[in-house]
Amino acid sequence: MKIIMLGAPGAGKGTQAKKIAAKYQIPHISTGDIFRANIKNGTELGMKAKSYMDAGGLVPDEITIGMLLDRIHEEDCKNGYVLDGFPRTIPQAESLTKALGDMGEAIDYAVNVDVPDENIINRMSGRRACLSCGATYHIVYNPPKMEGICDVCGQHLVLRDDDKPETVKKRLDVYHDQTQPLIEYYKKAGVLAEVDGTLDMEEVFQAIVRILGA
Ligand code: AP5
Ligand code: ZN
Repeated sequence: MKIIMLGAPGAGKGTQAKKIAAKYQIPHISTGDIFRANIKNGTELGMKAKSYMDAGGLVPDEITIGMLLDRIHEEDCKNGYVLDGFPRTIPQAESLTKALGDMGEAIDYAVNVDVPDENIINRMSGRRACLSCGATYHIVYNPPKMEGICDVCGQHLVLRDDDKPETVKKRLDVYHDQTQPLIEYYKKAGVLAEVDGTLDMEEVFQAIVRILGA
């Protein structure tokens, strides 16, 4: 099963994508996580991506598309995957459609996690991330067992550089401008499914499972 997660920054795409990956035994591919891992390791790709990310903008399509297409051609993707944070622009979506079409394949579901802007700032300011293993928490809605420490790997949790309120505002603008049109794109393709992302995490997940099938 090939799934795309759509939704504003902080809508809960990553949270739900991890649960989907675990239940359906498919890899979770987050372009944001790939970029953050590259930044942490000081790679050339990471150095290119960092300035765009810190400013709340998008990493250019020339960098992002090739990276993602390479990833989905890896061996562990042959039974499907859940994409989180890609596509984010119409050219990215068109490249993906074409690459899959060339192999006689297509996306099965584009799940839009719908959360109004008012809720987003609150979610992002309370998010704490583990830059070692990619786990995410929320100080109120999903706190770690020990304050400031990752349950999974024991590393210290941080507020992401791009989760500061002024950067979040910019990311929301970019989302409305460049990413929201993908909802219409996947509606036309007949694969769009909408879920109410303001519900609690487990309720959102149950709504997604009803769409994808048990
Ligand atoms: P990326 O990492 O993809 O960030 P994003 O899309 O802005 O999404 P987030 O990770 O911020 O949020 P999310 O929707 O996954 O929410 P989460 O589950 O964590 O990208 C970062 C940057 O990389 C981009 O700005 C861009 O520069 C670059 N980039 C990445 N992909 C790119 C691409 N394709 N093209 C170009 N550039 C790209 O949840 C948020 C918080 O809310 C958490 O604390 C969580 O615990 C909490 N929460 C989640 N669900 C609920 C719920 N139901 N109720 C209460 N709290 C909840
Ligand atoms: Zn961790």
